Amino acid sequence: MTERRRSFLRNGWTWIQLAAAATLCYPLFRFVRFQVPKKPRLVKVEKQLKVGDVYLDQEFVLFHDAADTWAVSRTCTHLGCRLNFSEKDHLLICPCHQSMFTTRGERVAGPAKRNLPLFAVERISEGNGKGYIVSL
Ligand code: FES
Repeated sequence: MTERRRSFLRNGWTWIQLAAAATLCYPLFRFVRFQVPKKPRLVKVEKQLKVGDVYLDQEFVLFHDAADTWAVSRTCTHLGCRLNFSEKDHLLICPCHQSMFTTRGERVAGPAKRNLPLFAVERISEGNGKGYIVSL
């Protein structure tokens, strides 16, 4: 009987030690998983777009109309395939599972659930030439 009690107490003490160690290490694990926000990567487009022009990059599509210039990600929000731009439909279409997005990145159809991210675009027109800087 006393042997069972000793065994129970020994096991209980082990569990208490493990719980204390986990409690003390939790802040350390959270610190290790802490992620520093990454700096935006700047991509220069050395091309002056006319109204209605579309510029395709590996990672984004740059649109220009009379009022605005904007960049939309080319990475599908479903599983990450690279989107193609359909000039006929004026949509971004995923070749993998046919998700469709407007030129403003809004999801229209397909298995993707989220809209495409938009990137900030800055127009440059002096010094280093003409074009745009896109912040990815
Ligand atoms: S990866 Fe684009 S719809 Fe599946």
